[in-house]
Amino acid sequence: MSDFSDDDFQPLDPTLKNVLDQDSLHWIFVGGKGGVGKTTSSCSLAVQLAKVRESVLLISTDPAHNLSDAFGQKFSKEATLVNGFENLYAMEIDPTSSIQEMIEQSDQGNGMGNMVQDLAYAIPGVDEAMGFAEVMKQVKTMSYSVVVFDTAPTGHTLRFLSFPTVLEKALEKLSFWDDGHDANQEDMFAKLEEMRSVITEVNNQFKNPSITTFICVCISEFLSLYETERMIQELTSYHIDTHNIIVNQLLFPKDGSNCEHCGVRHKMQQKYLEQINDLYEDFHIVRMPLLTKEVRGTEDIKEFSKMLVEPYHPPTN
Ligand SMILES: Nc1ncnc2c1ncn2[C@@H]1O[C@H](COP(=O)(O)OP(=O)(O)OP(=O)(O)O)[C@@H](O)[C@H]1O
Ligand SMILES: [Mg+2]
Ligand SMILES: [Zn+2]
Repeated sequence: MSDFSDDDFQPLDPTLKNVLDQDSLHWIFVGGKGGVGKTTSSCSLAVQLAKVRESVLLISTDPAHNLSDAFGQKFSKEATLVNGFENLYAMEIDPTSSIQEMIEQSDQGNGMGNMVQDLAYAIPGVDEAMGFAEVMKQVKTMSYSVVVFDTAPTGHTLRFLSFPTVLEKALEKLSFWDDGHDANQEDMFAKLEEMRSVITEVNNQFKNPSITTFICVCISEFLSLYETERMIQELTSYHIDTHNIIVNQLLFPKDGSNCEHCGVRHKMQQKYLEQINDLYEDFHIVRMPLLTKEVRGTEDIKEFSKMLVEPYHPPTN
């Protein structure tokens, strides 16, 4: 019998197969720092999921939408079939825009809009929480097998976790108001109450690891690693499952390459990769190469997505 030491440790499969195999997953978040490859990764994952699940919805919650760039197709806040697929849909939402519409409607005598405006002033983030609730209410009725979120860069990624509290504050505030809001107060109260129940329900689902997981995307650099660790700690504190890390934009210089620039960067990346391997032994660590061109258009995404399932092996000379 041998005793266990660190050297006996077998790394987990370095692919996202575990995600494709977990049929019970309904919500998959893809997040990380700006520009690391969240959109590329979430689109690629959605393409692979479309092969094994009945229907897939890809949602961008980033106000600077780029699903359209990735697939070379215009998307909107309505779920739209992605060209070339039969069961893959995409939508780009701005969580604050539906609330903005409500406020604008108030010019036409809808007092609710005024109330939203007052609430948004009193409780920062309430417009966003309400917007997210609207979207989730809609998405819940659409019965996709799995929903993939391309989230906004770190910092805003986990905002939705605070939304139930935000809406509770709004309800409290509303019950203290009397003058001037009477006509619509009841309606508003009912609406907020409904939103709170939707948000609370989905947040509970987000905390169930058989239904929800969060995939971290990073690059092999100090700052990105640091941000990833912070994000993982935050996710853990909220009981949101995370057990996959995509390390994107890795260099694989050819043997005998004498490019000093690539050699030095490769060495740095390997150093941080080792740290990632040590820190996240219980994660699937998926290594993606930096390609010589951008990943744009469905064909590029399809090609890229294969490497989420089959580990990339650099060509040998
Ligand atoms: N492995 C890669 N090789 C080459 N290009 C890549 C790779 N990954 C991403 N890119 C390109 O880098 C750019 C940024 O990637 P992407 O849009 O996926 O990042 P993001 O994390 O979603 O950015 P943002 O935070 O702005 O939303 C895109 O032009 C994409 O095509
Ligand atoms: Mg993006
Ligand atoms: Zn080089």
